[in-house]
Amino acid sequence: MIISIGADHGGYELKSQIIKHLENKNITVTDCGCNSSDSCDYPAYAKAVADKVVSKEADLGILICGTGIGMSMAANKIEGIRAALCHDCFSARATREHNDANVLCMGARVIGSGLALMIVDEFISTDFSNDERHIRRINMFS
Ligand code: RB5
Repeated sequence: MIISIGADHGGYELKSQIIKHLENKNITVTDCGCNSSDSCDYPAYAKAVADKVVSKEADLGILICGTGIGMSMAANKIEGIRAALCHDCFSARATREHNDANVLCMGARVIGSGLALMIVDEFISTDFSNDERHIRRINMFS
């Protein structure tokens, strides 16, 4: 599995923790930046991560900013992206099973790193259900 990950300055520190966490599990991570906690513009990183997912260079993407909201808005503008803002494990699992979400967004100023890592684990280990009703609903907005 390959994960592309990106963050703005608000999510930079949590991004580093998630990268370490995933690499400890032998998961390949493509870090799309940012590369410091200096102020920067989240849409650039949303696009970089989304492009990797759309081109299938990554299986799933993770985006972190202060709230996760800007990242999810920006990522969802890109065709083929279904980005889900999740701050709990139930939503992370449900959005993979029901929405076939391909990008996880989180707000580093909203949740702690312990919960964020659990949400990442839930998201990447859950498959889409492939249920007809969920496929139909996704097609209705794709
Ligand atoms: C940056 O201050 C903040 O606006 C950003 O990280 C994010 O929360 C935007 O949605």
